[in-house]
Amino acid sequence: MANEKQFKLRTKFIATRGVKEYRATIPEWVNADDTVLEVGCEWGTTTVLIAERCGNVIGTDVSAECIARARRMHPEIRFEVLDGFDVRAAADIGGPFTKVYIDISGLSGYRSLLDGISLLTMYATVLRPEAIIIKSGALKHFAAHCLAWHGGTGP
Ligand SMILES: C[S@@+](CC[C@H](N)C(=O)[O-])C[C@H]1O[C@@H](n2cnc3c(N)ncnc32)[C@H](O)[C@@H]1O
Repeated sequence: MANEKQFKLRTKFIATRGVKEYRATIPEWVNADDTVLEVGCEWGTTTVLIAERCGNVIGTDVSAECIARARRMHPEIRFEVLDGFDVRAAADIGGPFTKVYIDISGLSGYRSLLDGISLLTMYATVLRPEAIIIKSGALKHFAAHCLAWHGGTGP
């Protein structure tokens, strides 16, 4: 049963729908003193936008081809091959990370809702960033329909 000594995650989760919303979070959530990890960076388009706000960002992707192209296109930014589901390997890449961006293909549908929640929980537990911004329409819909019960919040 839950009690006061139980471990509680402090990380904020920001769920976005589509790449436009995912990128629109950058001015609000990334500061000059942040250290940011992007998981699922493809060719680094969003990683570049993050780098414009803070000097310390690493873009990662499971695809070695994507990472090779990202390095060619943006030699000034660090890119690494990483399977985003291997959170231990993510922790070994660098950090401590204050913000994590996650955009792994296939996370947007409702059938992958549990994968999205698992990823958020794993990254929040292992890396303990202040915030994780994730691109998942299903998670955004789910979050928008959740209410934390404090009493008196009936329909
Ligand atoms: C929609 S693209 C990312 C676009 C990028 N974030 C941007 O804003 O330009 C999704 C990426 O997820 C990557 N991906 C798929 N499975 C992954 C995994 N398990 N770990 C890391 N990246 C993965 C794909 O290789 C693909 O490049």
